[in-house]
Amino acid sequence: MTTEEAMTGIQQARDLVAAVYVSSAVAPFTPQELLELLRRARRDNEAAGITGMLLYRSGNFIQTIEGPAAAVDTLLKRIACDPRRTATLRASPASAIFYAGSKKGRRPAKMPASR
Ligand SMILES: Cc1cc2nc3c(=O)[nH]c(=O)nc-3n(C[C@H](O)[C@H](O)[C@H](O)COP(=O)(O)O)c2cc1C
Repeated sequence: MTTEEAMTGIQQARDLVAAVYVSSAVAPFTPQELLELLRRARRDNEAAGITGMLLYRSGNFIQTIEGPAAAVDTLLKRIACDPRRTATLRASPASAIFYAGSKKGRRPAKMPASR
C-alpha cells in the first residue's frame, strides 16, 4: 500500500458515520411488507455503500445504518419522511463499521423468555 492509498483510506474512515434508532410502525407490517422493505433496502443500501442491520418485532424496529456520511444522512432523511413509521433519529461519528460485507437477512429472532 502506498502512502497515498493509506491517506485515502484514513480520509474515507473519517467520513464514516453510524446511526442507530428505534422506531415504531404506524401499523403492524405483514411478513410480505417486511420482505418488500428488506428487498428494496438491500438493493438501495448496497448501491449507496451502506451496511447495517434491521430488526423488527411486535411493531417496533431497531436499525443500525453505517457508511459514508452523506449517504447515511440522505437515507436518514428519507426514512424520517416514511409515513409507515415514527422515530427519533440520531447519527454519530463512527471509528469503525461492523456490518461490512453483511446483507440484511430475514430470520425470525427467538426471544428469551421474559422474566
Ligand atoms: C423501519 C424502516 C427502515 C428502512 N430502512 C431502509 C434502508 O435501510 N434503506 C433504504 O433504502 N430504505 C429503507 N427504508 C425505506 C425508506 O424509508 C424509503 O421508503 C425508501 O428509501 C424509498 O424512498 P423513496 O420512495 O423516496 O424513493 C426503511 C423504511 C422503514 C419504515
